[in-house]
Amino acid sequence: MLNDIEKVLLSEEELKEIVERLGSQITKDYEGKNLVVVSVLKGSVVFMADLMRAIKVPCSIDFMSVSSYGSGTKTTGVVKIIKDLDNEVVCGADLLIVEDILDSGVTLEYLIKILSARNPNSIKICTLLDKPERRKANIKADYSGAKIPDAFVVGYGLDYDERYRNLPFVGILKRQVYEKKHTGVSDS
Ligand code: IMP
Ligand code: MG
Repeated sequence: MLNDIEKVLLSEEELKEIVERLGSQITKDYEGKNLVVVSVLKGSVVFMADLMRAIKVPCSIDFMSVSSYGSGTKTTGVVKIIKDLDNEVVCGADLLIVEDILDSGVTLEYLIKILSARNPNSIKICTLLDKPERRKANIKADYSGAKIPDAFVVGYGLDYDERYRNLPFVGILKRQVYEKKHTGVSDS
């Protein structure tokens, strides 16, 4: 698995610092609010597990799963809900959507659209990684861990074809790994 990594982009130490920084910003901003942290499966679970422990105000958590990718490295542009929130009634909730990476922005644009229609009190985005160069949709993160260049990254929850999620760091995947043949559908 390690042989497939070109270079480490964010070490475990750097990820810890990012999580602490975002956790304290969120703690400050959500004092006295009705915070519901929504993790977008599956890529954000590792980040979510760390981030929620760095948030020091009361919150509940929920999960959504959408798919926008095949097993390749580029979005298909078609997003669909695989799993909705357990608690679909978000009226009065201050939703914080937690994503692993903001790439084209198509996934988050779609999520914001369907969740806003349910009239939450507020809705914000927290992303671990941001690839601003690749943006197609008009979406900006309210909380962003790190801006990264346009390279395909894996680890700390992020996958390529469902693999590498368990790496404890974020690394750039070697091109030859994804330039081999691939088909099929997987969760984002
Ligand atoms: P978007 O809709 O293009 O913004 O795509 C967002 C989703 O694509 C993320 O939640 C990831 O699951 C996936 N994704 C985008 N870039 C990468 C990457 O470099 N590595 C792994 N997954 C990625
Ligand atoms: Mg993915």
